[in-house]
Amino acid sequence: MADPAPRIPWVMILAAGAAAIAVLASIYLLQPKPPAETETETASANAPVGCVLSPGKQIGGPIDLIDESGAAVTQKHFNEGMSLVYFGYTFCPDVCPTTLNAVADALDKLGPAAARVRPVFITVDPKRDTPAVVKQYAAAFGPAITGLTGTPEQIAQVARAYRVYYAEHRTGPGPNDYSMDHSSILYLMGPDGAFIAPIRADQSGDEMAASLKKLMG
Ligand code: NI
Repeated sequence: MADPAPRIPWVMILAAGAAAIAVLASIYLLQPKPPAETETETASANAPVGCVLSPGKQIGGPIDLIDESGAAVTQKHFNEGMSLVYFGYTFCPDVCPTTLNAVADALDKLGPAAARVRPVFITVDPKRDTPAVVKQYAAAFGPAITGLTGTPEQIAQVARAYRVYYAEHRTGPGPNDYSMDHSSILYLMGPDGAFIAPIRADQSGDEMAASLKKLMG
């Protein structure tokens, strides 16, 4: 009498199937996506990970800030073309200068098309970043970049509108002994202030120019 074929309980088959699907799904999710399809951006190392932006989400809003000369700035100052908005602070030791250098490089690479987009640097450190400070800082990255500041309330409001994370990080007892943790994302905004797409801030100038070219049409 031959042994009957070993019976595998259905529950084990189902469990094995579910495990296989889970493995396949995780392999799929872990695939790096080409930058062109990556419409998401995670924040800088200091900020909470998982800050995902996508077109259609409510990003941006009326601009109510202070320009490099101390004058009030509203959305109508940005209605002539697209804006490439970045939040950071002038004392930033690494991420902000690297990003703004890449932006300046990207604009060079774009050539005449660069005239259609205005890079805007908005500080998240209004205490130290006065109009004069942001002016000097932005100018260091090229004549095209506009620096903006505001009252702490204005900065809090615009950061909320752009879903920007920022927080003071104490480094000592003195009033200026702090750095700012902040998310690092570039926002391409339309002439009407509508959010077009996020652009990864950790790209080279070449990559950023390619992203811009694609999004600017
Ligand atoms: Ni920074």
